[in-house]
Amino acid sequence: MSEEVGFISMAGAKAEGEAPTIGVGMLGYAFMGKAHSNAYKKLPYMMYPPVAIPRLVAICGRSEAAAAEAARRFGYEKYYTDWRKMLEDAAVQVFDNGGPNNAHAEPCIAAAKAKKHVFCEKPLARSAEEAKGMLDAVEKAGVKHQVAFNYRFVPAVVQARKLIESGALGKIYHWRAVYLQEWGMDPKMPISWRFQKDVAGSGALGDLGAHIIDLARFLVGEPKRVMGLTQNWLKERPSPGDPKKMIPSDVDDAFVSLFEFENGALGTLEASRFCQGHKNYNCFEVNGEKGSIQFNLERLNELNVFWAGEDPKETRGFHNALISESYHPYWANWWPHGHMLGWEHSFVHEFNHFFDAIVNKKDVAPYGATFVDGYRNAVICDAVVASAQSGHAVDVKY
Ligand SMILES: NC(=O)c1ccc[n+]([C@@H]2O[C@H](COP(=O)([O-])OP(=O)(O)OC[C@H]3O[C@@H](n4cnc5c(N)ncnc54)[C@H](O)[C@@H]3O)[C@@H](O)[C@H]2O)c1
Repeated sequence: MSEEVGFISMAGAKAEGEAPTIGVGMLGYAFMGKAHSNAYKKLPYMMYPPVAIPRLVAICGRSEAAAAEAARRFGYEKYYTDWRKMLEDAAVQVFDNGGPNNAHAEPCIAAAKAKKHVFCEKPLARSAEEAKGMLDAVEKAGVKHQVAFNYRFVPAVVQARKLIESGALGKIYHWRAVYLQEWGMDPKMPISWRFQKDVAGSGALGDLGAHIIDLARFLVGEPKRVMGLTQNWLKERPSPGDPKKMIPSDVDDAFVSLFEFENGALGTLEASRFCQGHKNYNCFEVNGEKGSIQFNLERLNELNVFWAGEDPKETRGFHNALISESYHPYWANWWPHGHMLGWEHSFVHEFNHFFDAIVNKKDVAPYGATFVDGYRNAVICDAVVASAQSGHAVDVKY
């Protein structure tokens, strides 16, 4: 029973020896800057004993006042207003890119050239071509690289992967995934970079779709052919400074797609920012010959599972498994069972994974997403767009 409960007493945790420090230089201090900084601070005392202790060396943003405030708030030793200067800082060993999509390629390539390990937010780039340049740079430099596909680090998602890997589901027939949000629907909301193709590359596709495309590859395998449709309902949005001035919004507000996987499975994937009532509804279902698994990010400590032939047959059906035991992925680091984890914790796990790869010279793949995964993801996003434009199925070629 104690194994299931997790910690009976939390007083006994102790470590031996000293963990190395890893100096972090963070680009961006807004949404992801906050999420990443939060994870760096939690990591050394929750992932205990830590594989490495993040040293928050510097944070970078364009506005001096905001960057200085972020350094104070999050506990960075200093700030920069130019990422090039931050990359000259010898104390920075890991470059963490939490900037918008148009600020991914150039700084990450420069970081690799400066022999920093590179962690980059998703989507890796605005196009497959741009992503390829980034992949080539990190491979040439021989540094570790990871893309922030953080849903790979939700315990229930890792558990789903382990079930699939173990053969518990048998042959996989279906992948069904949606990622639905509502926040893009307000026509009065001022435009931001997420609605501008030159900055973002794409809309719901690269923002939300990239996550479920990554989960599809993580859990089912490589797609070989895709068909897609995209839609852009609101073609202009108000300027942040002047509500009467309208600015083009030229990305997809939603996409739907069909995937055929190399292993014969069929998939449907859709993402939208125009789904009233949905806040962050990242859901998938996998149907295999022996069972099915359902996951919903808004209930991320749970998996709904169905096992064919399960006894007693009178109560056979989908049932809910709480993924919070100490033997579930990552849970031994946290709380007694049922004392729930949230979205933020996936970031702690993904950085722990990255540091483990750096310190212990392990591979980031297959559980972490590398720049190879980021590049392949971008190839698939491009294929969805090409299919939407041509009206034909498009082969996925890496
Ligand atoms: N993994 C996830 O769940 C998740 C969630 C949200 C966003 N993202 C991704 O994270 C990235 C950032 O998104 P966000 O929501 O944090 O955006 P944001 O707009 O909240 O923050 C962007 C930050 O980058 C800074 N910035 C922009 N251009 C810069 C430049 N040239 N030099 C230095 N700093 C610059 C901005 O000042 C700001 O601090 C995007 O690629 C996005 O797709 C991932």
